[in-house]
Amino acid sequence: MKILVTGGAGYIGSHTVVELLNEGHEVVVVDNLVNSSKESLKRVEKITGKKVPFFELDIRDRQALENVVKGAGFDCCIHFAGLKAVGESVSLPWEYYDNNIGGTLVLLDVLRKNGCKNIIFSSSATVYGNPKTVPITEDCPKGECTNPYGETKSVLERIMTDMYNADKEWNVVLLRYFNPIGAHKSGLIGENPNGIPNNLMPYITQVAVGKREELGVFGDDYNTPDGTGVRDYIHVVDLAKGHVKALKAVENNCGLEIFNLGTGVGYSVLDVVKAFEKANNIKIPYSIKPRRPGDIDVSYSDPSKANRVLGWKAENNLEDMCRDSWNWQKNNPNGFEE
Ligand code: NAD
Ligand code: UFG
Repeated sequence: MKILVTGGAGYIGSHTVVELLNEGHEVVVVDNLVNSSKESLKRVEKITGKKVPFFELDIRDRQALENVVKGAGFDCCIHFAGLKAVGESVSLPWEYYDNNIGGTLVLLDVLRKNGCKNIIFSSSATVYGNPKTVPITEDCPKGECTNPYGETKSVLERIMTDMYNADKEWNVVLLRYFNPIGAHKSGLIGENPNGIPNNLMPYITQVAVGKREELGVFGDDYNTPDGTGVRDYIHVVDLAKGHVKALKAVENNCGLEIFNLGTGVGYSVLDVVKAFEKANNIKIPYSIKPRRPGDIDVSYSDPSKANRVLGWKAENNLEDMCRDSWNWQKNNPNGFEE
C-alpha cells in the first residue's frame, strides 16, 4: 500500500516507517520537525536500505499538505503528528488544541478531498483517565482527562468517530498506546527528548549515561504493591508492528475499530529501575519525590482484542526494552546531534 505518514520523523513514527518498508509498503513522510530531526529518517534509510521521501511541512499548512497529497494516490494515512508533552500542554493549551486538533482537521479534509478515507490514529491510554478496573479493555468508558494533551486525543477520537458515522466509506483505526519505550535493535533510532525528559525511561537512560545525577521517583504511596506507579510498558518495535497489522484491517475495510496496544503486564517504577540495572549492569541512583500532579496508581491494558482481530501480540519483554533503550542512548548520548 502507499502510505502517508505524518510525524514520521519522530520516535514512534520512525520505528513504524522501518516496519512498513520491511513489509514492502511505499511510504511518504511529512513532518515539521518541531520535535524531531531529519537525521532519524537518514537512519531509517540506513536500516532498511530504502529511500524515504520526506516533505518538511506543518500539517496545518493546507496548501503544502495538498501539494503532497493531490494526485499521489495514498491508500492510507498513519497519523502520528502532534505535540505530546503533558506538562507543557497545561501551560500552552491553545498551542496544543491548535496543533493537534487544528492540524488533524486540515489533514482529514485534505485526505477525503483527495480520495483517501483511511486513517490510523495515534491515540493514548490517557483517554481512559483513572480507570475503575484493570486490565483496561477497549469497552471501558473513557475517563476524565486531566490535561489538554489528553483532551486532544479524546476529542480527535470523537471527531473521527463522528466522521465515520456520517460516511461509512471511511476506515478509522484508533490505536490506544500504553507506554512505549525501547528502541530499534540497531541502536540507530530511538527516543530523543528535548531538555529534561518527562517520561520514565528516557530519564533513566540519561542518568545511566551521566547526564542526570539521579532519578526522582514520583511518589511511593500509591495503591500498588511497592507504592510506586504501575504502567504497561511496550517495546516501540512491537508498537510499530501493530500499525502494520492495523493496515491489513484497513485493507479489509474494517470500518471503525479501536485497539489497545500494550503487553497486558503492569510494572512499577521500581520494577523498571531494577530491570534496567539487571539488564545493563548499571546502577541507577534514585530518591523518592512527591507525587506528580495528574498521575494515577495503575494502568495496564487488556490487549486481547488486538490479538484476536489483528493477530498482533507484543513479543519483547521488559528486559528487551531496557537493553534496547540503553543500547540507543549509549551509542547516541546526544540523540541525533553529531
Ligand atoms: P514525537 O514527538 O517523537 O513524534 C511526533 C512527530 O510529529 C514529531 O516528529 C513532530 O516534529 C511532528 N509534528 C508535531 N506537530 C506537527 C505538525 N503540526 N505538523 C507536522 N509534524 C508535526 O512523539 P512520539 O512519541 O513518536 O508520538 C507519536 C504520536 O503518538 C503522537 O501523536 C503522540 O501523542 C502519540 N502517543 C505517544 C505516546 C508516547 O508515550 N510516546 C503515548 C501515546 C500516544
Ligand atoms: N516517573 C517517575 N519519575 C520520572 C518520570 C516518571 O517516577 O522522572 C513515574 C511516573 O510517576 C509514572 C511512571 O513513572 O508512575 C510512568 O511515567 P511516564 O511519564 O513515563 O508515563 P505516563 O504513564 O505518565 O504517561 C505516558 C505518556 C502519556 C500517555 C501515557 C499513556 O507521557 O502521553 O503514557 O499512554 F498518555
